Amino acid sequence: MNPALFRPPLGATLRMILVACTSLVVSACGGGGGASSGSSSSTTQSVGLSAAAALGEKIFKDTSLSLNGNQACASCHVAERGHAGPLQFVGPNTDIPTEPGSDGVSVGGRMSPSIRYLVFNKPFRFEDGTAATGTPTGGFFWDGRAASLSDQGKAPFLNPKEMANADVATVITKLAAATYASEFKALYGQAIFDNPDAAFERVALALQAFEKESPEFARFSSKYDAFLRGQTGLSGSELRGLALFNSSIKGNCAACHPSAIGKDGSFPLFTDFSYDALGVPRNWKVATDPTQFDLGLCDNGTDAINALDASTKAALCGKFKVPSLRNAGLRKAFFHNGRFTSLTDVVTFYAQRDIDPDQFYLDANGQPDVKFNDLPLAYRGNVNTTEGPYNRGPGDSPALNAAEIADVVNFLCTLTDGWSGSDLACQR
Ligand code: HEC
Ligand code: HEC
Repeated sequence: MNPALFRPPLGATLRMILVACTSLVVSACGGGGGASSGSSSSTTQSVGLSAAAALGEKIFKDTSLSLNGNQACASCHVAERGHAGPLQFVGPNTDIPTEPGSDGVSVGGRMSPSIRYLVFNKPFRFEDGTAATGTPTGGFFWDGRAASLSDQGKAPFLNPKEMANADVATVITKLAAATYASEFKALYGQAIFDNPDAAFERVALALQAFEKESPEFARFSSKYDAFLRGQTGLSGSELRGLALFNSSIKGNCAACHPSAIGKDGSFPLFTDFSYDALGVPRNWKVATDPTQFDLGLCDNGTDAINALDASTKAALCGKFKVPSLRNAGLRKAFFHNGRFTSLTDVVTFYAQRDIDPDQFYLDANGQPDVKFNDLPLAYRGNVNTTEGPYNRGPGDSPALNAAEIADVVNFLCTLTDGWSGSDLACQR
């Protein structure tokens, strides 16, 4: 894929930045990386937010809005992990790489992704063509089923694997008892709690305003950003890693995770928000029922996908949204199903998936299994085998050798926000 095709056009980018910056100090927004160094504490209140966003921040951190009063958005989207999942913040089983819901029992099969830089994402569409020919792009969640951040923001309150409330009225009753309830009424009307659906709509909009406005979510303050601004150099290994990351005959990573400054001057997001089927191996720790498969995009339940003819729809099975690699070094588990737990393992998978598949595709007993074992047979052909680094087979030399994998990982470690001169901890 040509990354240039997937950059938002100049006007769109500026529009997004302007929307994001309404009632914000402009220098604290977009590519400026206004916030300086240091780690962001989840308890500090961001300055310069609109009233809605400031409320959204309180809602984001409020555990009282969950079934058992023990879970908030911030529980699964933790600042210290790049606003991705913390891995087992509750419960005794530290072996399952996903967070249980507020009931402490229900566990979802997908990882909590980082929710940074999503202000630059757009609703789902087929870019540059029809459903049959265009590139699926945009949308929220791993499978793109939510059209916007506000659409997305409603789901966790009611999902049994998340905040687990029975219904909207229950959420709003809790909200009406929150410490900031009077602020909510001051902004949305004294009678707002009388209409739970209208109040819930405002909750989602407030969360969206927070996620779009808060500089915490789009700091552009990594070592690599400083490098792009000409403020620092990269080490020899990091520079080699960058070159391997970009090279179409080596990592070819930038084809889906763009790394260059856009023509409009926008800083790279390390995602083009498109979808691909990588054939990530099954993670038996979260997908225990051998008859069940997570099909991703083709099964997201939206009208846009359900309206497609059967073969167009089938071609989307196994595809998941390309995540940003910014702050990947803070993550504890990778890919939609958390199958790998270090960056080295992820990059080794990319380099050796087709050379030595047996080391990755294991059955429930840890024995070698068929390739692409997390998809039903009918959809295994959807997995990308044409582009580097996958365009190889047994006996070929891998796209990246061990030293090159280490260089790519060192480069990925430069993508952590909050760099202030000394290198940050990284989940190598
Ligand atoms: C129990 C953990 C948990 C809680 C609580 C939780 N999330 Fe998530 N979040 C996830 C998981 C897992 C996904 C991915 C689910 C999927 O793709 O189907 C996700 C996905 C998202 C996404 C989409 C990211 C993308 O790349 O499209 C956003 C935005 C988000 N969450 C925001 C929130 C907000 C706002 C709240 C509070 C209202 C919240 N989350 C509560 C675990 C959680
Ligand atoms: C053809 C598109 C494509 C190419 C090329 C590609 N990726 Fe990805 N990348 C994806 C998709 C799609 C996902 C999510 C897949 C999933 O979860 O099923 C992903 C996920 C990742 C993740 C996990 C991030 C997270 O938050 O869980 C890392 C790390 C990553 N890629 C690094 C790389 C590196 C390094 C390269 C080059 C060696 C590369 N990618 C090449 C599409 C691509």
